[in-house]
Amino acid sequence: MDGVAQPDPDLLIEFDDVLVRRGGNVLVGPVTWKVELDERWVVLGPNGAGKTSLLRIAAAETFPTSGTASVLAERFGHTDLSELRPRIGMSSSALANRVPYDEKVSDLVVSAGYGVLGRWREQYDAIDTERATEMLESLGAEHLAGRTYGTLSEGERKRVLIARALMTDPELLLLDEPAAGLDLGGREELVARLATLAADPDAPATVLITHHVEEIPPGFTHAMLLKEGQVVSQGLIDDVITAENLSTAFSQSITLDRVDGRYFARRTREPGRHRVQV
Ligand SMILES: Nc1ncnc2c1ncn2[C@@H]1O[C@H](COP(=O)(O)OP(=O)(O)O)[C@@H](O)[C@H]1O
Ligand SMILES: [Mg+2]
Repeated sequence: MDGVAQPDPDLLIEFDDVLVRRGGNVLVGPVTWKVELDERWVVLGPNGAGKTSLLRIAAAETFPTSGTASVLAERFGHTDLSELRPRIGMSSSALANRVPYDEKVSDLVVSAGYGVLGRWREQYDAIDTERATEMLESLGAEHLAGRTYGTLSEGERKRVLIARALMTDPELLLLDEPAAGLDLGGREELVARLATLAADPDAPATVLITHHVEEIPPGFTHAMLLKEGQVVSQGLIDDVITAENLSTAFSQSITLDRVDGRYFARRTREPGRHRVQV
């Protein structure tokens, strides 16, 4: 034993005072965060709050500048992060931007199992092709299998990338702004698919980043609110997603509604302002 406390085997993410600093600026932290099996987390905060910086550590892409991080019970600094990464499913705009437009959708999904982007083999194993089809089905995208990535709508691209992230049967699923850039129909379709995934007991623990409460799928259990790299609130979603906490995180008075398991937020109407006639 090296005297360092061992990671908790029941925690998928275990951050203690994790902090990321670049060029003298603290991007995020210190954050202490524990994610357990079966939990579905949303990390919410304004642009620049440090959400992606935090998620990149959970994705085993970067080390924290200080603090202790374990992911899937592997302690950073004591493990090879490249061995950890295949156990984590990730979808982000950084990845989306690297997909060649002429990539066939079925190849994009199946190649995740081989840890590559872009067609790698002439022939994939039948079992992998079947799983790729299943994953596309679970995101309502099986009809897109024969299309090329470049011909898909934004919403279709997002769903296909999540299917790819699920291809390797990851123990942890990380989604960085999956609904960004979608129109209303695309957003609602994605939220419904993610709600189905959240309700599936076999689905991996999930962390979803967003800056819109409307994008939180029903069934998500926990939330963390970030503002300027600091945690405003974290814990059970009902305790965290409140008008008061959102007002703090977004630096303005927010009114919050909850309908059918969904959240809707807007700026509180100033007293004396008249309703706009429509
Ligand atoms: N490599 C970097 N070097 C310096 N600053 C960075 C770097 N990456 C991000 N930032 C800054 O860190 C802050 C947090 O960024 P980010 O984690 O991407 O926020 P979010 O995902 O919440 O929008 C932002 O102010 C951003 O400009
Ligand atoms: Mg971001």
